[in-house]
Order: sequence, then C-alpha cells, then structure tokens
Amino acid sequence: MLSAGLQVAVISRDGNRLEKLKGFITPSHRAFLHTLVGDVGTEEGAEAAKTALLKSVGKVTDVVSSLGFSWWQGGPPHTQTLQELHRVFETLVLSTFTSWKAFFPLVKDNSNGSYTFITGGAGERLLMPGTGFLTLGAAAALAFCQVVREEYPDIPCKLNEVKINMGVATPDRMGPGYVSQLEVGEAIASVVEKRSISHKVLCTNSPADLKTMILEGKL
Ligand SMILES: NC(=O)c1ccc[n+]([C@@H]2O[C@H](COP(=O)([O-])OP(=O)(O)OC[C@H]3O[C@@H](n4cnc5c(N)ncnc54)[C@H](OP(=O)(O)O)[C@@H]3O)[C@@H](O)[C@H]2O)c1
Repeated sequence: MLSAGLQVAVISRDGNRLEKLKGFITPSHRAFLHTLVGDVGTEEGAEAAKTALLKSVGKVTDVVSSLGFSWWQGGPPHTQTLQELHRVFETLVLSTFTSWKAFFPLVKDNSNGSYTFITGGAGERLLMPGTGFLTLGAAAALAFCQVVREEYPDIPCKLNEVKINMGVATPDRMGPGYVSQLEVGEAIASVVEKRSISHKVLCTNSPADLKTMILEGKL
C-alpha cells in the first residue's frame, strides 16, 4: 500500500515494535507511514486511538483488522484456567470487536472505503494437540466476522474477510504449509486497493491463491 502512494497507519501497544517496523520501510516511503501507540482492546482505548489517528491523518478510508496472536499451544483444556481462556478471547475476538466498534463508523458509509478482517483456519479445526484455546478464540473471531457481514448486508463500503488457512512466516523461516508474510501483505493490499468485492470470505489455501489475490484482488 505504501508503494502505491497510500498513507498507512499502524497501531500497536508497543512503541519499540513500531520503531522496528519503521526500520523495514524504505526511506522514500517512510513519510507515508503513521505509527500510533494505543490499545484498541477496550472501548475507551479504541476510541482514544481513533481520535489520535484522525488528528494526525485527517481521514480514514480503509481499515485492516489483524488482531490476535500467531500461536497458542498451552495444552488441553483440563490443564487450563478460566483466566487463560479470557486472555485468549480478549486477544483474538474482544479486541476485534472493540476496534471494529470504534473504526467501522469511519468507513461504513463510504463506497470508496473498506473494512477487512484477517482470520485463520485455526477456528475450524484443532491444529495440533494442545491448541484447543486457539481454536476457541479463532472460531469466535470467524463467527464475529459472519455476524458483521449478515447484520450489515447493504452498507456501501467493501466489507471482506481474508481467511488464511496456512501458517504465515518471514521469508527466512518458510517451511511446508507456510506462506511468506510479504506475499500475504501484498494479497491483502490488493483486496483493499482494487475494491472489487464485498461481503466475501476469501479462503486462501495455497501460495497460488495468494498470487491470484495479488493479481485480481479477489479469489
Ligand atoms: N501467524 C500465522 O501463522 C497466521 C496464520 C493464519 C492466520 N493468522 C491470523 O492473523 C491474525 C493476526 O495474527 P498474527 O499472526 O499476525 O499475530 P501477531 O503477529 O501477534 O500480530 C497481532 C497484532 O495485533 C496487535 N494487537 C493485539 N491486540 C491489540 C490491542 N489490544 N491493541 C493494539 N494492538 C493489538 C499486536 O500488536 P502489539 O502486540 O504490538 O500491541 C500485533 O501487532 C489472526 O487473526 C490470526 O488468526 C495468522
């Protein structure tokens, strides 16, 4: 998106991670990247992040929601606590809700706007023994995206979900069943920029699917 000349804002709770991110961006594109320290996992935090963002960039046209964590394998349910289950839900689905509640009104009535959820296949199956809570949290996120699609069938903005049914890794850590985070990023950027579909779930099952998305902005 940066290479297409778009202004991109990234929110994180951790300023160090944002500084690291800036280091990956070529100097010519750095002026287009806005970083913001904020916690979108509460209604107040998400509202504060929205206010700060609008103050710094003026207008928001597209939102990509990719909240959660890459992996959870704490063990089978009988070894876990309710507190841990709360933490998993907070990370995967409650923050997806609180940030959506704050940011969706900025784009939903804009026919040139979009809201894109990133989800994963973990919600549909147990990926490995001991990953049950990941399945619970990811399944709740899938259900939330479905609810939003069905509760808002006629909104003009493009509302989509990109469901990645593979592991995502940095190019130096690729293995069987993994795709490159750079290609995933390009594919999501293409869906956002081309704005050719709405209310769809784009299930990406292979590197070939990602290539199609990069070229066409849909599957
Ligand atoms: N990684 C994979 O292999 C993979 C595969 C398929 C699908 N997915 C999907 O991709 C999505 C994101 O996962 P990921 O692997 O990219 O996880 P990640 O690397 O841990 O990134 C999650 C991001 O969410 C941010 N975040 C979480 N809660 C936040 C909050 N309350 N306020 C602000 N920022 C918050 C984190 O920022 P800070 O921690 O810096 O605040 C972090 O940058 C999930 O839906 C997952 O199902 C991932």
